[in-house]
Amino acid sequence: MRYHIWTIGCQMNKADSWRAGEQLHSLGWQPAARPEDADLIVLNTCVVRQSAEDKVYGRLDSLKSLKHRNQRPSIVVMGCLVGEDNQALERRFPFVDLFLRPSDVAGLLSFVQARGVPRPQQDLSPRNEVPVCCYVPVMEGCNHHCTYCIVRLRRGKERSRPVSEIVEEVHRLVERGAREVTLLGQNVDAYGQDLPGQPDLADLLSAIHGIDDLWRARFLTSHPRDMSDRIIDAVAGLDKVCEHIELPVQAGHDLTLKRMVRGYTVEQYHRLVRRLRDRVPQVAVATDIIVGFPGETEEHFQATCDLLKEERFDVVHVAAYSPRPGTPAARLDDNVPPSEKERRRRLIEETQEQIASEINRRLLSSEVEVLVEEKQRDKWRGRTRTNKLVFFPADQDWEGKLATVEITWAGPWSMQGKVKAPHPG
Ligand code: SAH
Ligand code: F3S
Repeated sequence: MRYHIWTIGCQMNKADSWRAGEQLHSLGWQPAARPEDADLIVLNTCVVRQSAEDKVYGRLDSLKSLKHRNQRPSIVVMGCLVGEDNQALERRFPFVDLFLRPSDVAGLLSFVQARGVPRPQQDLSPRNEVPVCCYVPVMEGCNHHCTYCIVRLRRGKERSRPVSEIVEEVHRLVERGAREVTLLGQNVDAYGQDLPGQPDLADLLSAIHGIDDLWRARFLTSHPRDMSDRIIDAVAGLDKVCEHIELPVQAGHDLTLKRMVRGYTVEQYHRLVRRLRDRVPQVAVATDIIVGFPGETEEHFQATCDLLKEERFDVVHVAAYSPRPGTPAARLDDNVPPSEKERRRRLIEETQEQIASEINRRLLSSEVEVLVEEKQRDKWRGRTRTNKLVFFPADQDWEGKLATVEITWAGPWSMQGKVKAPHPG
């Protein structure tokens, strides 16, 4: 029996798809590269913007004929397309066997088992390899009320996994070769508030810090309102925790922030980043920006450009506002025309390209520590603790090792270098 998983969207979806593949594998299933060859097709979906949702519909439509010609493949849809009430989806896509809520990997397994477990085949290939850098979801859902956001509607309230369960999972991944973990949550810095005794992200980071062959840990995404001094101290004090924070600001004007219900002002955001940089001097800060939110004027937009120039982020993920059904913002007049949203999006990208080039160029001729993930074409690919992508050529096998690399070329999105030696760390 063969399965095919198609995934779009955030790291959480990627992590869920990977776990689903692992578990199917342990039941004796084999991966199929093409949906045509699969007995089970899983679509792990994203609807954060209309463009993502359209891709999902396109994909679903393309599967319809497959099911028609051949009754065989079971089709399961999970992820943020799926809400509480799926009658409309069931009517539109009657060939889908099951709709599952985001991250419901257990539901997928139950479905598969109820349909009969295949007899393990003689030629079971070895288990999936564990990547050097793994994602570990530590919580689900979000208690914030950002007015543009459909994710919180689809994923529900915050639910954290217990510390012991996460430590156990990281242990198992490290035993199988993982060296870095990224702890995932929609709002990861609120981790633990719903658990008995309220352990926080700092406690969780300390707990996994004790795992011997784990070399690095990071976490994303953080909400500025939930980034406590304890968490900042954990980043500063625990040497395996990388100097890398994903801290979405979304907009650089207080009025827009207020309409988005982000819960902070531009000044409070600046103060937080300042605190972070004071405590963790080498920290790389990434952010998310939405342009063209309802009512965003040229002046409001300029304030966002100014914020970028002032904070000089390492990475900026920018998106044009897309009204999402059922969100409070969808009731506002979507009054920035598409061409203007696109112009603003481009301007942000160009501004950031310049800034990232300047930041990365400062690393020229310096030596950085790179954890090598894999070979990509003829070069090894890895990342620094600050999450910068580094490529270098070498004949030797570097996968899963720490390399000291001298940077010889630096662009806005990646760098290249010469490997000097295994890193002592
Ligand atoms: N805290 C969550 C946010 C999920 S959405 C997380 O990072 O996992 C990811 C990003 O998509 C947001 O930070 C925001 O910048 C963007 N986004 C969300 N809803 C959007 C919308 N309706 N239109 C455009 N961009 C959106
Ligand atoms: Fe969405 Fe805001 Fe939460 S972007 S996931 S409601 S922090």
